[in-house]
Amino acid sequence: MLIKKKPDLTYADIAPKGLYMGRRNFLLGALGTYGAVTAWKRLPNWLAGAPTGSVPRPLSNLTKSSFSTSEKVTPASDVESYNNFYEFGTNKDDPSRNAKNFVTSPWTVSIEGECAKPRKFSIDEIMALAPLEERIYRHRCVETWSIVVPWIGYSLSNLIKLAEPTPKAKYVAFQSYYDPKQMPWASSAGVEIPYLEGLRLDEAMHPLTLLCVGMYGETLPNQDGAPVRMVVPWKYGFKSAKSLVKIKFVKSEPSTTWDLYRGMNGMPEYGFYANVNPNVDHPRWSQAKEHRLGGGLFARPIPTLMFNGYGEQVASLYAGMDLRKDF
Ligand code: MTE
Repeated sequence: MLIKKKPDLTYADIAPKGLYMGRRNFLLGALGTYGAVTAWKRLPNWLAGAPTGSVPRPLSNLTKSSFSTSEKVTPASDVESYNNFYEFGTNKDDPSRNAKNFVTSPWTVSIEGECAKPRKFSIDEIMALAPLEERIYRHRCVETWSIVVPWIGYSLSNLIKLAEPTPKAKYVAFQSYYDPKQMPWASSAGVEIPYLEGLRLDEAMHPLTLLCVGMYGETLPNQDGAPVRMVVPWKYGFKSAKSLVKIKFVKSEPSTTWDLYRGMNGMPEYGFYANVNPNVDHPRWSQAKEHRLGGGLFARPIPTLMFNGYGEQVASLYAGMDLRKDF
C-alpha cells in the first residue's frame, strides 16, 4: 500500500471531520468532555446521513501571528451559526442550514486582469502557497455585531506578488462563487449576486489583509466561506468576500455588491471603503457601539474603535482623505 507523505496530502485527503470527530469523541465521550458535547450536537446530522457537501477538516502546523489580538475569542458555535452569506439565504441561521451540501472540492481561483502572470490556482495550491498562520482578528459587521475569530491563512500579498500586477493595476476586484442550483436563495437575496467586492491595490497588499482558508484549527465551514475567503479586519465585514473564485487586477474602482445596493428610499447606503468608523453612522443606525456575539443576553454594547482598532497599522493608507466623504 502506498502511504502518502505529508506534503503530498491534498485538501481532499485530510481525514473528514465526521470521522475524526467520531474517533475522538468515542475516546473522550466517557470523560464527559467538550468533545462529547460536540458529538451530541452533531448526532442528528450523522443520523440523517453525512452531508454530500464539503465538511471542515483539521489543519496542522499553524504559525501564531503577531497580528493577533489577545481579546476573548468568540465561541465557534456562535461564529458558525450566525452568518451573512446571502447566496444561502438572508436570515442569520440560513447559511449554516442551507450550505450543508455546498460542494467546495474541486475548486479553483482565477487570477486575472492587469498582471504579468495570470493563472488559475487549485485550492491545494492556495493552501500550500505560504505557511498557514492563525490570526485572531476582531471582525465588525456593518449591522453592529462583532466577533473575535482565530482565522487561518496568510497575507494576500503573497499571492499578489506571484501574479506581478502591472503599473496599470490600481484596484483588486474579488468575485464569489455562484451556482444557482446550489444557491437557489440568491435570486431573492435583494443584492447583486455573484457577490462582488474590491480593495485598492495598496489595501490588498497590506499585511493585515488575509487570504483565509480556515478558522478554529480547521478548514472553513461552508457557511463561513469555504474553501477560501477574504478577511480585511479594519473594514466592515461585507468587504470580506466568501468562497472566492476570481481575483482580478483592474485600473479603476470596481463595482461591488453593496455599492450597487439601493435602500428602501432608492438611496445608496454603503461606500466602497467601508472602513470601520464610529463617527460615520449608517443612514439607518449609529455605528458608535457594537454587540459582541457570545457575551450572553445581558452583555452591554461596547464602543466601536476607529478602523476596528487597527488604526496604528492602517491609518496611513488614508492620509489626506476625508473619511466622512469616502466612507
Ligand atoms: N460574501 C459573500 N459571497 N456573500 C455574502 O453575503 N456577506 C458579507 C461577508 N462576505 C457575504 C460575504 C458580510 S455582510 C459579512 S458581515 C461577512 O461576510 C460575514 O462573515 P461570517 O458569516 O463568516 O461572520
